[in-house]
Amino acid sequence: MCGIVGYIGQRQAYPILIKGLHRLEYRGYDSAGIALINPAGELGVFKTKGKVADLEALVANRDVSGTVGIGHTRWATHGEPNDANAHPHYSQTKNLALIHNGIIENYAVIKNELKGHGYNFRSETDTEVLVQFIEYVKSSGNLDLFHAVQVALSQVVGAYAIAVIDKNNPDCIVAARKSSPLVIGIGEGEYFLGSDASPIIEYTDQVVYLEDEQVALISRSHGLDVRNLSDVEQTPEVKTLQLSLSQLEKGGYPHFMLKEINEQPDTLVNCISGRIDPAGTDVILSGVINNKEKFLNAKRIIMVACGTSWHAGMIGKYLIEDLCRIPVDVEYASEFRYRNPVLGKGDIVIAISQSGETADTLAAIQEARKAGAFVYGICNAVGSSIARATHSGSYIHVGPEIGVASTKAFTGQVMVLSMLALTLGKLKGTIKKGEYRDLIKDLISIPTKMKQVLLLDPLIDEMSKIFTYAHNFLYLGRGYNYPAAMEGALKLKEISYIHAEGYPAAEMKHGPIALVDAEMPVVVLATADRIYEKTVSNIQEIKARKGKVIAVVTEGDTVASSLADYVIAVPPTNERFTALVTAIPLQLLAYHIAVNKGKDVDQPRNLAKSVTVE
Ligand code: F6R
Repeated sequence: MCGIVGYIGQRQAYPILIKGLHRLEYRGYDSAGIALINPAGELGVFKTKGKVADLEALVANRDVSGTVGIGHTRWATHGEPNDANAHPHYSQTKNLALIHNGIIENYAVIKNELKGHGYNFRSETDTEVLVQFIEYVKSSGNLDLFHAVQVALSQVVGAYAIAVIDKNNPDCIVAARKSSPLVIGIGEGEYFLGSDASPIIEYTDQVVYLEDEQVALISRSHGLDVRNLSDVEQTPEVKTLQLSLSQLEKGGYPHFMLKEINEQPDTLVNCISGRIDPAGTDVILSGVINNKEKFLNAKRIIMVACGTSWHAGMIGKYLIEDLCRIPVDVEYASEFRYRNPVLGKGDIVIAISQSGETADTLAAIQEARKAGAFVYGICNAVGSSIARATHSGSYIHVGPEIGVASTKAFTGQVMVLSMLALTLGKLKGTIKKGEYRDLIKDLISIPTKMKQVLLLDPLIDEMSKIFTYAHNFLYLGRGYNYPAAMEGALKLKEISYIHAEGYPAAEMKHGPIALVDAEMPVVVLATADRIYEKTVSNIQEIKARKGKVIAVVTEGDTVASSLADYVIAVPPTNERFTALVTAIPLQLLAYHIAVNKGKDVDQPRNLAKSVTVE
């Protein structure tokens, strides 16, 4: 949801900004731009609709010299993606340039006020309003840039991560955040800015994560000064990054998504290491053990999440109700935050988020905390806003996920939820000893099973060619296979733009079956479980209407396989953990269909990796 970068130091800023923008392009990619102050003291803004590569083409023969600069890659909120709406935005006098990630909710009121003072606007964005407002505050109050930013932001309602440069003071960048992430990298006499650490990692591993409503004055000569909006000095905590450059590269794969699908056996080993004892007899999720009383006394658990993370939450519900006998609700964070839910002490809210920056999930956490609930986070991004906003939690430890469609984060989330259910079930005594050991054994066999499933890639690639031009898809499953079906449908629609729905298999006959004809591919998750026969009946119902069935079955299956048109067989797995194994063929099917259609798999249209706006 927009990526921002910045540099100030002794080096040329342009190559650092461009490389950083490429790294952040996953966050938004409908337009890109940079602003630099050149050695002659001119503040130049270069921006264009399109991707970072289009920006590079635009500036190919231009003067992009300068040792201070900011850059932006956009995901449109206010105003369509075009050159004028791209960031950075100049102020009225063109003395200031600003980049922004977030939404200024009261921009219309401020804009009207500024128009009354003679300001005019070149774009439809809320961001241009902000830079003009900062300039107005600066000149009318006779303030320096830093204090003008503080005063202006005190009057702003909304979310922001911003960076501003001033032609008349090329020695500094002013940056600030509220509800949108911002990281400052500290080098030797130089500073870097990023929406995350990916543009910074190759220069320094020393970083400061700005907190909400903090404003940073980053000066080449005076160093870093962090204050709040009321100008009270803050002591920034310098952290050491645990990220390597190789984690951010494609490693020989044509797309990040394919790399990330293939990484899953390893990322899950990482996720369970230190949590399941090497002998495979015990699971210890320390976040649960450390909050033992709260979990043991929980009246109910509420999962809040969005998209893929919500699907993981659904699997978590099935696991916790099944193994721990605690009622679990799963809520879309966007609904939960506004619908006045019944909530209080004794409730546990589990917030699930890969990025740890999703605005709706963050707001749901704040609501839950206000109501007195204990909030537990399941995140991937270490040090992210959600990780910091929760009382306690567990990281999924699957490494940076760059492909916009979530793959390894989903399986990491399901793995952590599985370990949470096992830890809690043991504490509560709701799982029998023998079953507990069997389940752990199953869980640690998942990475090996995933490796086997990845060998099916050529088969799935071939199969994908048959369905490349389908207009619709249904994905069906019962029990644990139902959320897995919804996730499979989401993967297909977001990267191939084929309309796809995930449904509980039995619910099909209450409506969606009307859609089934010889043109309709139906993916049925029919792995061996307690309700396998019922799922087989659903396959028969589809075949009776001439639908094309792609069945995902357990190796050795005969009944569903004999009815289906196409079969993908996965190794036998305890039904509670099947989603971890069936996720892979569904991800691969979506991937190959999207590649066959020539779609931009890693950066699908209209989407962004980190949704930091409502
Ligand atoms: C789908 C996808 C999204 C995210 C959703 C929540 O592939 O990636 O649906 O799952 O935007 O994001 P996080 O998990 O970062 O809160």
